[in-house]
This record gives sequence, C-alpha cells and structure tokens, in this order.
Amino acid sequence: MWLGVDIGTGGSRALVVSAEGRIVAGVTVAHDEILMQQPMWAEQQPENWWSAASLAIQGALKQAGVSGSDIKGVGLSGQMHGLTMLDKDDQVIRPALIWCDQRSQNQVDWINDTVGRERVVECTANPVLTGFTLPKLLWVRDNEPAQFDRLRKMLLPKDYVRFRLTGDYATEVSDASGTSLFNVVERRWSIELASALGLDASILPKVYESPDVTGHISELAAHATGLQAGTPVVGGGGDQAASAVGNGVVEPGFVSCTLGTSGVVFAHMEKVAYDPSGRVHTFCHAVPGKWHVMGVTQGAGLSLQWFRRELAPGVEYDALMAEAAESPAGAQGLYWLPYLMGERTPHLDAAARGGWMGLTARHKRADLIRSLVEGVCYSQRDCLDIIEELGVPVKSVRASGGGAKSPFWRQLLADVLGKRVVTLETQEGSAFGAALLAMTGTGAFASVPEACRAVVREVSAVEPEETGVYKNGHAVYQALYPALKNALRFGSVE
Ligand code: XUL
Repeated sequence: MWLGVDIGTGGSRALVVSAEGRIVAGVTVAHDEILMQQPMWAEQQPENWWSAASLAIQGALKQAGVSGSDIKGVGLSGQMHGLTMLDKDDQVIRPALIWCDQRSQNQVDWINDTVGRERVVECTANPVLTGFTLPKLLWVRDNEPAQFDRLRKMLLPKDYVRFRLTGDYATEVSDASGTSLFNVVERRWSIELASALGLDASILPKVYESPDVTGHISELAAHATGLQAGTPVVGGGGDQAASAVGNGVVEPGFVSCTLGTSGVVFAHMEKVAYDPSGRVHTFCHAVPGKWHVMGVTQGAGLSLQWFRRELAPGVEYDALMAEAAESPAGAQGLYWLPYLMGERTPHLDAAARGGWMGLTARHKRADLIRSLVEGVCYSQRDCLDIIEELGVPVKSVRASGGGAKSPFWRQLLADVLGKRVVTLETQEGSAFGAALLAMTGTGAFASVPEACRAVVREVSAVEPEETGVYKNGHAVYQALYPALKNALRFGSVE
C-alpha cells in the first residue's frame, strides 16, 4: 500500500492506495477558516496543516485497517505558492501567506522595476504575479522587517508538512516553479534572480524531481501519524501537477480541468513553451524532464462557496445545481464575473473585482446560480483558448474536483468549451497523483506515464450540445472586463 497526502486549502486529505491503484481508504480533515484580516489578504497557520494532515493519515490508516508498516511510500501534494517562514529553531515565524493572497502588487512592481519584466521571464519562464511566493516574501521584507530578519528557510505548504514528517528542507520541481524564484527551463533555483533582489539563496530548500525520495519518516512523525519510521517520502507535486498525474495528464494530447476553489485548465508539454504575455503559467511537470502549461480562474468553486455562504446558507451543493438547471442556457442574459480574488488568466489583475452584470427584476435565484457556473466556465474557456493558441493539441478534457462531481456542471463545461468532457474512475485528483508518484519513486512502476497507463481509467463522457448560446455568451463575457476594468478597481489592493 502507498499513501498520498494532499494539503489543500479547505482541508488535508490522506488516501491509501493499493498496488493495483485502487483507493482503499480516504480521510479529509478540514482546516480552520482562511484568515482574511483585510480585503484580498489570505493566511493560514502551518501548524494547522500539520495537525490536519497527521489526523487524516491516522484516520486513513485506521479506515483501511492497515498499520504503518504496510505503507511502502508516501507522496505529498499541496496548494501551491504559499509562503511558510521558519526561523533558526525551525519555528514558524508568522502565518503563511497563501496562494490567493493578493497584497503584494507593490512588490511585483518593484521586482519588475529592479530587474525588468523580460529578465524575470528569462529567469523563470513566467512573469511574477501577486499570487506567487516571491512577492509575498518581499512584502514581509518591506512591511515586517523584524520577522524577515529571523528567516532561515522558506517552505511551500506541502513542504512544511514534509519537514514535519522527515525533518528535511526539500521541495520538488513542480511546486518550486510557482515561487518566481525557479528556473523552469533548467529545473533549478534561479540563484541569479535571488541575488539580483538581495535575497540569500540559503533560504531555499533542496529541490528534487517529483518521484524522487526526499527523506524518510522520523521517529517523532511516526508517533504523530501512525506511519513507520524510515518509510520513504517522495517529492510529490504542487496540487495541479499532482492532480494531472492522478488524471493521467502526463503525455501529449491530454488536458484536464480541475474545478476546486480555483479552476485550472492544465496541459502536458513535451517541450517547454510559454505565452509571451504570461497569461498562462509554464511550470515543470511532475513527470521528470517534462513541463506543463496551465490557466487559472481564481474564483471557480469559490464563487459557489461564497454564494452559498452569503445567499443560500445550509443549501446543499446538489440542490444549488438542481436549482441552476431550472434557469435556461444563458441565464436569461445574466453574467457573472468570477473575480472574487482578482484574476489570473487571462487578465493577470489582482485588483479585478467580481460581480453580476445584466441583472433585471425578472431574474430568479436560479438565474443567479446558473450564471455563476456559466461565468466560471467562460473563464475556463479563456484559459483553454490560450493553451490552444500555444499549439497544444486538445481532443478532450478530463474533469475533476468538486465542481466536476455535478453532471450539470460537466455538461455546461462541455458546452462552453466545445469539447468532450471525460470523467475518470478515480476522482481523487491530487492525493491520488501523490500516491502514484510515491509508487513510482519506490519502484512499483518504472515511470509516471507507466503508472498512469496502468491505473487511470475513463468511465464516462459528455459531448458538447448547446454551443451556440455559449459562443455568443462568451463574447459578451469577454467584453465585460475591459469595459468595467477601471470601475471594478478601487484604490489599493491592500
Ligand atoms: C495554482 C494555484 C492553485 C493553488 C490552490 O497555481 O494557485 O491551484 O495551488 O489550489
């Protein structure tokens, strides 16, 4: 048996997987609410990731009826980009600024002014964005110098959990790619960029390929989790790369769409290519020596979570989807801009704001909900269009994540993307991918694609049906952001 552990945003999930790639047990432990002290700020306590992950591991072992000695290897995946700062005694210095925290526009501007936007792209294959780790680190340097002075290591969220499991400061190429300090083309830290910005490269953890063993479970961690001391832990992946492994998107022609809190369209690349304006991210894949490109909708599932919290408390998501289905395609001319936490693809605008447009007195709550799902799908279409512009072939799209559990949402996605949307037998995404990386890294499979070919199975597909309404709808949706751009921004993002 192998264990995949995903440190998500909402919770940590541990999954026990058999040698045949079957899910034997899965347990999620929720995290505390994201701390949002100011608009567009988002923080979590690393200690909370660790306590949730260790409880999830204990729970999964118990549910599977296995003991720690039955687990041959552990793989980690996690929310990307978050900044965990450790001091000389390995204590967490402050809560982690996580992926959707958008406070660092001034630092992004400073980086571009200091080294030049082109140079940043040369060094890292991507422009620097407020979501990425580097500007978050510089925000701390600029605003909390005493905390910054104590910094000895910076770790990504899953790598903090790795540190608690094995005692090693380590990461792997897919997650490192989202820091803005990583040379994605050469798969190494960009020491050049770090020193150009006055950063000491010793704060960076050692970087591995994703299936490589980075360390072993310590006695202390064995006690906390029920795992056996000495069990190997592999690099794993950032949640998107790991999820792509779980979805078998590890060879040319495969594209996935993950509808979680954020929504991501992800494609495998044999050779590195990047969008010159940086609207999609080019990162290292969890497949050694390969890359991927992805477009990100910041507020995908988040749009629905927000709606439910504020306007439909206690209503189950299935009931919300059933209500949305009462509204006709196009939601009677109502449009939703899903920019609740700014937007990445295609706008790269941390100060973008969400909203409904086209509201009239005849609209019902069903239209509001339908328009949310349509708006998220339009944003995913924006991502897919850019990926196709880069020359990546797209035959069908493999859907996963909470949103993909809804047949209504999957059909709508097929209609808006104009592509066949496929679902897989295992809907576990990142935690499953992390387990497959552990299997590969400990010798159960010779390579990541071989693991995927052996265990990832397609089970159902929907074809696009209602494409005309959405073709027009997408054109209207695309016209709204440029028209409203200045009206939707207010003051500083801080
Ligand atoms: C990817 C990204 C999200 C987070 C949270 O760039 O920001 O996928 O990892 O899921």
